[in-house]
Amino acid sequence: MKPLVVFYSRTGTTKRVGEALAQMLNCDSEELFDKKKRSGPLGFVSSGRDARAKKLTTLAQIEHDPALYNLVILGTPIWGGTLSSAMRTYITSNKAKFAHVAFFCTQGGTTNKPMFDEMEALCEQHPLDILAIRQNEVKAGAYQDKIRQFVERLLSLQI
Ligand SMILES: Cc1cc2nc3c(=O)[nH]c(=O)nc-3n(C[C@H](O)[C@H](O)[C@H](O)COP(=O)(O)O)c2cc1C
Repeated sequence: MKPLVVFYSRTGTTKRVGEALAQMLNCDSEELFDKKKRSGPLGFVSSGRDARAKKLTTLAQIEHDPALYNLVILGTPIWGGTLSSAMRTYITSNKAKFAHVAFFCTQGGTTNKPMFDEMEALCEQHPLDILAIRQNEVKAGAYQDKIRQFVERLLSLQI
């Protein structure tokens, strides 16, 4: 298996999970950078509004070609019940290059099925696995076991 972990993170939570995943899988990772300003209270408001409107954004230069990997693991924070604009943009531009996909998210709340369903529809394929972690678990450092189990399930797949 040759995985690539791709994540977007506005405030570092999803980044911690993405980096831990890539480290455990000993694989490449790609952090997405949104060229639209997302920081501060105004950034918070426009992020939620853009996500709910399913708006695309402009991403900074991508380093890794997802076509060179047989599993692309996509991670995003949940915004307004759906995925971040940066991840929506990445999937929209690159989905034709995805051999297999798996998804992860971080979130403040607990509802994530509509968001994962939307990622699946955007990718036009069923994910091999999904992982959801709450922001509080990341802050408390109580997420390593979930990541380890996710990695073990992925490594057991015959791809
Ligand atoms: C604009 C905005 C909207 C959000 N909407 C939701 C939501 O609908 N459901 C939820 O569980 N968390 C929601 N959150 C919380 C984030 O998903 C959570 O804080 C996440 O871990 C942040 O990840 P990051 O630090 O990688 O940016 C929202 C956060 C922001 C900034």
